[in-house]
Amino acid sequence: MKKDFQLPVKKPALIDLGRIDEVLEGIDLSQDPPEDEHLRQYYFIKKTRMLADSLKADRGRDLTFHVNTFGCQMNAKDSEKLSGVLKASGFTETEEEDADFVLFNTCTVRDNADQRVFGRLGRISHFKKANRDMKIGICGCMMQEASNVEKIKKSYPFVDLIFGTHNIYRFAEYLFQVMSEDRKVIQIWDKTDQVVEDLPSDRKFSFKAGVNISFGCNNFCTYCIVPYVRGRERSRDAREILQECERLVKDGVSEIMLLGQNVNSYGHDLEDGITFPELLEEAAHIEGLKRLRFMTPHPKDFSEELIQVIKRNPNVTRHIHLPLQSGSTRIIKKMNRHYTKDQYIALVRHIREEIPDAAITTDIIVGFPGETPEDVDDTIDVIRRAQFDNAFTFIYSIRRGTPAAGWEQVPEEEKKTQFGRVLKEVQESARRQSEKLQGKTMTGLVEEVNTQTQGYVTARLSNNMIVHVPGDASMIGSFYPIHLEECRGFYYFGTVCGDRC
Ligand code: SAH
Ligand code: SF4
Ligand code: F3S
Repeated sequence: MKKDFQLPVKKPALIDLGRIDEVLEGIDLSQDPPEDEHLRQYYFIKKTRMLADSLKADRGRDLTFHVNTFGCQMNAKDSEKLSGVLKASGFTETEEEDADFVLFNTCTVRDNADQRVFGRLGRISHFKKANRDMKIGICGCMMQEASNVEKIKKSYPFVDLIFGTHNIYRFAEYLFQVMSEDRKVIQIWDKTDQVVEDLPSDRKFSFKAGVNISFGCNNFCTYCIVPYVRGRERSRDAREILQECERLVKDGVSEIMLLGQNVNSYGHDLEDGITFPELLEEAAHIEGLKRLRFMTPHPKDFSEELIQVIKRNPNVTRHIHLPLQSGSTRIIKKMNRHYTKDQYIALVRHIREEIPDAAITTDIIVGFPGETPEDVDDTIDVIRRAQFDNAFTFIYSIRRGTPAAGWEQVPEEEKKTQFGRVLKEVQESARRQSEKLQGKTMTGLVEEVNTQTQGYVTARLSNNMIVHVPGDASMIGSFYPIHLEECRGFYYFGTVCGDRC
């Protein structure tokens, strides 16, 4: 290794792809792979890159990759790292699924997430018939379940690489194995105590980014698979998190989202850890950070201190996603969520008093085992009283291995009937809340070109509302004052009414 270059072994932030050549130059491939996890992955990136160079020369073209991401923001963040490793290893990204290396980063939170992955896998098998050198990998939450791995081995034998959530940081090493040897690589771990964050990352957006603050979950809501597939809660060191945020802002990022399954229990597992409100306050003070979001808080841990931090920091966005799951105290208890209907309503009321311009959104599950129409009445009552600005509504899906999977289930038809009642209520609430913004001028961050309506771009307000405005790609990543003109349920059409701000 070059003397004047220090590899980020201990406490670094993610490596920009722009610096990758500099990092790889310091790695000596004549030695055995290093023991240190970080160095080891860069060692394999360099080996794959050499291999990729010779394959490109043989085939007379680039080697392409495509990463297919399912699931939550945390999976999206992981995919940026997976893409980062692929780019650093000499692959070029393509929008098409007939790439030389296709990777599925999966979600298993509900059965329909699993089915979507199987459907897509089935569809790409014919690409492999056309391109015998094509490699297919599958990773993420679904792979932490032995039955899914078995199914892939049996029914999708063309898959070359399978790994899980705990060893994602070893991807570079696995990639080298599948590219250099003609054999399958299957590596699933039960757990990890490692938090390896300093791999190359290929950020999807230049102006906004997610930053992991914790991994895994300790809550064990009785319907939920996440604690089983993502493992116990592990908080990242606060200095590392803040350093990563600072670097992102220096790099031109205006909006950061702090990510964790239960962000407000952040730090409980750290010896000298700071609390989530303290972390949020520190992050909010980063110079140049225009917007700071966080996802997902748990109602049971939503403290007064947190409300006050949001209130006094205008760059903390006016959007609080507060998963309700059910409005019935009886069902909330069976879900192991640790709050009552009244406590939840009181919390929402208090947030609305303290931060009146905050949008409050939620997640609701319908058809949890033992749920009666009267329980659903309670959920509807909470929707009306909380006046949610929006909500994701899910039909309960049995997850093998979770406690609720063994309980007496609500018949499918009944689940659908009750789901319809809840959905209608949620849509009405979202419309009522959205209409209140009619005629207002608010600041929007333009995120993308609108693919549905020609000549329009799509912006997001601090309260997470989406607004479509006339514009072009040059506006992406900038903030503009936007006049909200036409409410379309839970989004708006509007116009830019001033200069970039
Ligand atoms: N940690 C977050 C998000 C977890 S997964 C939280 O606590 O809110 C995202 C959402 O999926 C959950 O909020 C829940 O509404 C839904 N969900 C989780 N497991 C489910 C299941 N088995 N069936 C249906 N919806 C589920
Ligand atoms: Fe699942 Fe509950 Fe953890 Fe959220 S808090 S990830 S719903 S167990
Ligand atoms: Fe899905 Fe895993 Fe996220 S199960 S919701 S991708 S943590």
